[in-house]
Order: sequence, then C-alpha cells, then structure tokens
Amino acid sequence: MSMRKVLSILAASAMAVSLLAGCGSTASAPAAAPAAEEKKEEAPAEEAAPAEEAAEEAAEAAGGDLADKKVGVCIYQFSDNFMTLFRNELQSYLVSQGFAEGNINIVDGANDQATQTNQIQNFITEGVDVLIINPVNSSSAATITDMVHDAGIPLVYINREPDADEEARWADNDWDVTYVGCDARQSGTMQGEIIADLGLDAIDFNGNGAIDYIMIKGDPENIDAQYRTEFSIKALEDAGLKVEKLDEQVGMWQQEQGQSLVANSLAAHPETEVVFCNNDAMALGALQAIQAAGRKVGEDIYLVGVDALTEACEDVLAGTMTGTVFNDHISQSHSAADAAINYITGAGNEHYIGCDYVKVTADNAQDILDSLK
Ligand code: GAL
Repeated sequence: MSMRKVLSILAASAMAVSLLAGCGSTASAPAAAPAAEEKKEEAPAEEAAPAEEAAEEAAEAAGGDLADKKVGVCIYQFSDNFMTLFRNELQSYLVSQGFAEGNINIVDGANDQATQTNQIQNFITEGVDVLIINPVNSSSAATITDMVHDAGIPLVYINREPDADEEARWADNDWDVTYVGCDARQSGTMQGEIIADLGLDAIDFNGNGAIDYIMIKGDPENIDAQYRTEFSIKALEDAGLKVEKLDEQVGMWQQEQGQSLVANSLAAHPETEVVFCNNDAMALGALQAIQAAGRKVGEDIYLVGVDALTEACEDVLAGTMTGTVFNDHISQSHSAADAAINYITGAGNEHYIGCDYVKVTADNAQDILDSLK
C-alpha cells in the first residue's frame, strides 16, 4: 500500500474517530492521557509525512547505499499475531525503501529475554548498521541500550515502550536511540468510551446501577497491558458510570488463554456485563467462551479488544464483538524503518515517534478492513 493511501485512510479514520468521540481533532480524543498529548507535541501525527519525506530524501542522498546496509530486527515472540502483522509489514517496507532482503535479519526472541539478549549480542558481533528491537522485557531496555550504544549501533525500539527514565537518558546523552509506538493510555480510553457510549441502561442487565466487568490482561510487565487495564475503566468512571470489577486475569496476549480464563470467569460470575480484553487475540478467545456459555454479544454481554485484527473487525461488523481499537502496525512499522534509515544516513531522529490509535465500531470497521487490504 502506498504511503499516500495510508495517510488518506488515516485522515478518514481520524475523521471517523472525531465524529464518534464528538471531538474536533484526534489530538483531543485521548482526554485521559495528558502525557500522550505532551509527547505528541514533540512528534505529532501530522509530522509523520515530513519525517517520511526526510527518510526518503536521505535514502536518495545515500545513493542507493541502503542495499549494502544490514538491519537486525528482534521481535519478542513470532507467535504473537499483532507482532506478526508488524514484522511482515516492516520487512516489505524495508525492501521497498532499498534494503536487500538478505540484509534484513528478523529473529524470534521466543518470549525469553536471555535468548533475545544473545541475539542482540550476535547482531553486534556481525556489525549490523542499525537495530530495531521489540524487547521481551521493557525493564531490560537500559541494559540493551548500553550494549548497543557501546557498540556504536543506532537503535530503534518498537511496540514495548521503555520507561521515562530510560527515554530521558537517550535525550540527555544525545544518543541515537528512539522509540516508535502508540500511547497505550489512548487505546484504553477508547475501549472505555466504546462501552460508555452505549449508555448505562443498555449495559446494566442486572439493574444494580453499575457496570459489572471482567478484565483480561496482556503480559503485566508490558506498559500496554497496564495502561489499557487502567484507562479503559477510567474512561467509564470519567463518563460518570459506576463500575464493579468481578475478575481480573492475565492472558499473556494469547487467544487460548483468553478463552479458558473467560470460560472460568463467566462460570463464576454469570452477572458479567462487559468483558474487557487488552488485545484482540484474547478477545477472540473470550468470544469463544461467551458463545460456549450460551451468551450473546450485544444482547446480554459486551466485548472489546485492541489491535483491529481482521477477524476482530469482521466480528465487530457481525455484532459478535462490540468494538476494538486499531493499533496501526502499518504506520508504526513504516515509522520504525524510516527512523532506522534516518540514523543510517545521519539525518537523526527525535527520541519519541508517536502514532494514534483509532476507535473501531460497526460504523467504521469496514473502512479499517478496506485500509488493510
Ligand atoms: C500490543 C498489542 C498486543 C501484543 C503486544 C505485544 O501493542 O496490542 O496484541 O502484540 O503489543 O507487546
């Protein structure tokens, strides 16, 4: 897909979001995420185009030298379906920008930091020109940064955001290290808004005046899991709704775990009105459990996820999922590749490169699906 098409789709999606949220712009949509706003001031979504242009110009100025450059890419776990979309798009975009396929090496950390640390060490020994890293443990970022920086290799973190102290170190020392990703607070807020927008009467099947929910979390070490859990519920409370947590379980981003956890939760808490899942894979599992329990989404229970996987968007259209949130792997992977190019050519980067989430309901799920074709 061309960048122009992606941008025009994003603009259309942003319009859809602002219509849904009743806001004037996407920047004001995540009202509950002040730090996201601050960060966006540094690197607003609108600046994505100039950054990409800079990368293109820099790549051209390098006179096609990118074909000789080596990129090492570390993914925390290949079996994660969102990260599979991300890495496939990253690979094809890097090739479209002039890298030789044989010089792009993408490795599977198998959800084990020791394995990944070894892989990083191997890339350093091999002398790659740039590293793109999706850390297994965000808390290992300082160690990873030190290894990579000491070796004189620029570093682009993706998807799992290191903490604020670590990010501050890159800026303070003017190191060639950046993070490309979205602010998870925004996705949690959007999940909560999708439910809040239904109104208490539609949700409160047992008439106790509260929203009775269960929460299925991703890897708790991961800031995305922490913020989505917190901000989805905050959005309900901010909308003036009372909430009652019936259960909270860790499904590690995986469908099978989502399925078995929600099956158990529904058996223990048949009064459940909303199932929040930190991602779509777990929501797809939750849907299997909901259906096996003889429940019907939209009729006696609601279900939301994050990512906008194709299957989840189809469920939203069919009414078997209430909504999801588009985690834009296209924009994020392209920004990560552009940042890598900017380091190789010496153009450099900001230390935080952001991206907006998009709320997905039955109103715009088809647009999102079309944009992913
Ligand atoms: C999240 C995504 C999850 C999972 C996770 C891995 O952003 O929503 O599905 O891929 O990243 O870190």
